[in-house]
Amino acid sequence: VPRDAYKAWLRYAPLNPDQAEEYAPWCGTVVAAFSGHAPLLATACEELRDGIGSMLGRRPQESRSSDSERFLLVGTLDSAELKGLMDEADMEAVGDEGYVLRTVEQPERRFIAIAGKTDKGALYGAFHFLRLLQTGQRIRDLRVVENPAGKLRMIDHWDNMDGSIERGYAGRSVFFHHGAFLGNWNRIRDYARMMAAVGLNAISINNVNVNETATRLIAPELLPSVAKVADVFREYGVRLFLSINFASPIELGGLTTADPLDPQVREWWAERATDVYRHIPDFGGFLVKADSEFRPGPFTYGRDHADGANMLAEALQPYDGVVIWRCFVYDCLQDWRDRSTDRARAAYDHFRPLDGKFRENVILQIKNGPVDFQVREPVSPLFGGMPLTNQVLELQITQEYTGQQRHLCYLVPQWKEAIDFDTYALGEGSTVAGVATGALTDRPLGGFAGIANIGDEPSWTGHILAQANYYGFGRLAWSPTLTSEQITDEWVRITFGNDPAVVETISRMLLDSWHIYENYTSPLGIGWMVNPSHHYGPNVDGYEYSKWGTYHFADNQGIGVNRTVSTGTGYAGQYHDVPAARYESVESCPDELLLFFHHVPYTHVLKSGKTVIQHIYDSHFEGFEQAEGLAEAWRGLEGKVDGDRYASVLSRLQQQSKHAAEWRDVINTYFYRKSGISDAHNRTIY
Ligand code: GCU
Repeated sequence: VPRDAYKAWLRYAPLNPDQAEEYAPWCGTVVAAFSGHAPLLATACEELRDGIGSMLGRRPQESRSSDSERFLLVGTLDSAELKGLMDEADMEAVGDEGYVLRTVEQPERRFIAIAGKTDKGALYGAFHFLRLLQTGQRIRDLRVVENPAGKLRMIDHWDNMDGSIERGYAGRSVFFHHGAFLGNWNRIRDYARMMAAVGLNAISINNVNVNETATRLIAPELLPSVAKVADVFREYGVRLFLSINFASPIELGGLTTADPLDPQVREWWAERATDVYRHIPDFGGFLVKADSEFRPGPFTYGRDHADGANMLAEALQPYDGVVIWRCFVYDCLQDWRDRSTDRARAAYDHFRPLDGKFRENVILQIKNGPVDFQVREPVSPLFGGMPLTNQVLELQITQEYTGQQRHLCYLVPQWKEAIDFDTYALGEGSTVAGVATGALTDRPLGGFAGIANIGDEPSWTGHILAQANYYGFGRLAWSPTLTSEQITDEWVRITFGNDPAVVETISRMLLDSWHIYENYTSPLGIGWMVNPSHHYGPNVDGYEYSKWGTYHFADNQGIGVNRTVSTGTGYAGQYHDVPAARYESVESCPDELLLFFHHVPYTHVLKSGKTVIQHIYDSHFEGFEQAEGLAEAWRGLEGKVDGDRYASVLSRLQQQSKHAAEWRDVINTYFYRKSGISDAHNRTIY
C-alpha cells in the first residue's frame, strides 16, 4: 500500500525547484527560544526539521544561537529572544494555544519567528509554517496571528477493546486488540502528529458504548497502559479522555447502586478520579453516554442528567477534569403506530429544562442534527436553546450513513452549514459556531468533537479521499470561519501536490460529493431508507415499522413527517422565532428539509418548480450520473497521481457508481409503485 497514503497530510513531498529556491535560504537553521519548561518546543523543532528536510532535501541544523544570516526562530513569546520583537497588540491577541508567524527584517539578520504564547502554541505555529510550504505560499512577509476558536477540539473513537470499531470502515483499532492494548506506539505517535498538525487537542480512545472490558480502563490494572497512551499523545499536546460506564460503581466497584446522589457512589467516583490522575496528571476527563440506547444512566434511580453529570464533575473538579455528557438521548423502544412521539424532539425535551443546572466543568455534547447523522438534517435546536450551559458540537467524521468510506462523501460543506446556522438565540448572528465555542454565550468551555474515521488500514481511512474529512474537521474546529473551498484547496495541495489540473479536479470532486450522495439516497431531508443495523445500502422501509423512531410515513398519496406546531409533533417550535417560523410554514421551509418538517402529497410543487415525485426521480437519475462523473473525472488524473493511490481511489469510485445505480433504482421503483405517477421523461423505472 502506498506510503504516501499512510503519511496523509504529513507527506511533505519534495517541492519543485522554484519553490525550494525561495524557501531554502530561510530554512537552513532552526533556532529554539524558550524560558523554563517547554517540552513541546522540542517536538516543534523536530517536526520542522523533518518536514523541511523532506520537502527541501536538506534537514535544517538545530542551533541555540541565532548568528546565521537567515533562520527560523521557534519559541515562546516570553523568551529573551522573542520578547520585545512583537508589538503590544499582537502580544495581547495571542491566547494560550495561539501563535504568531512573523518575518522579521533587522539590519544584520532576517528570520521568521514562529512564536507561541506557550510551547503548544509554538507547535501549532510550526505546523502552520510547514503547511505554507506544502501549499506553496509566500513566506517573505508573514504577519499571521492565530488562535483556535474552540477550546476543546476533540476526536472520539468508537473503538472496542476486542479491536473492532463501532461504525468503523477502515480496519481495526489502532489502540486495542483481544481485550488489551495493542502497543503499536509508533503508529499511535504518527496519529498524534496528524492530530496536532490540524490543531486537535483531545482524544477519547474507547467507544461510548462501554462494554465489560472497557469498563475496566479506569481500574488499577489497566491504568498504567492508559497512561502510556496518554504519554504519547502528550508529546503532541493532545489530552486523553476515557468513555466511562455509568454503572461502574456496580460493575467494577461491587456496590449495589450507581445512584448519583448516593454518598458511597460519589465517594467511589472520587477515589477513581484520584487514581486516574495519579497515573495521568493531565487526564482530560470522562465522556458519557447515559440513558441512551440501552446504556445505564441516572434515570434508573429517578435522577436526571444534571444529577448524573454533576456527580462525575465533582469527582473530577479537584484535578481540572471535565465531564462531557452526550445529549443523544431518546426512546429507542418506540411503537411505530404511535404518531405522537417524535424522536427529533427528545434531546431538547430532556435537556432544555436543565439549562443552568450543570456544573462549570460539564460540557454537553450535541450531535449536529436532532436525529442521527443523516445525509441532511436541520441543526439541533439545543444549540442556542441552553445559553447557561457549556456545549460541544458533535460531528460524525466516520461515514456511517454517508457511504461508509466506499462512497466519496466529503462532509466539510455539510458541517459548514451546521456551523454557520443562525440559531437567533440572541438575535440575528447567533451562529452555532458562536454557541459551540462559547463565544456567543460567554461560556468558559466549548468546542467541537468528531467521531473518528480512522483504523489500522495503511491509508488510515480506507478511502484515501476520506482523509479529507478528518483533516477538514480539525481545520474547522480550529477555525470555523474557513470556507469549504479554502480547506479543500489546502488538503488537495498537501495530499496530491500543486499541479493546477489536479487541484482543480479533486477539489471539485470533493466539493460536489455530498450533494451527489444526497441526490441518489434519501430525498428532501427525510433520511434513513437504509438497511437496518449496518446502515449500508437502500432499504426504503428498513426502519419504517421498527422501534427506533425514524419514519418517513410514505403512502399512496404522499410522504414526510409533520413536525409543525399547528398540526404536527411541535418539533419546529423548539427553535427560536425566526428559524421556527421558517420551518413551520410549508411555503418558507427550504426544499432540502421539506419532508423533515412536513407531510406533503407527491404532487406538491417545490420551490424548484418540480413536484416532489418528479424531484425524486430527477435527483436519483442525476445523482447516479454524477457518481459516474466522479469516476470519470478521476480517470482524467491518470499519470498525474501516483499509480497506487490512483488505482485505490478509482476502484472505490467504480464501486460507488455501481452502488449509486442500486440506490437510484430501489428508490425510484419504490415511489413509482407507491404513487402510481410516471416519470415525466419516461426513463426506466422497474
Ligand atoms: C448511532 C450509531 C451507534 C452509536 C450511536 C451513538 O446511532 O448507529 O452505533 O452508538 O449513534 O452516537 O451513540
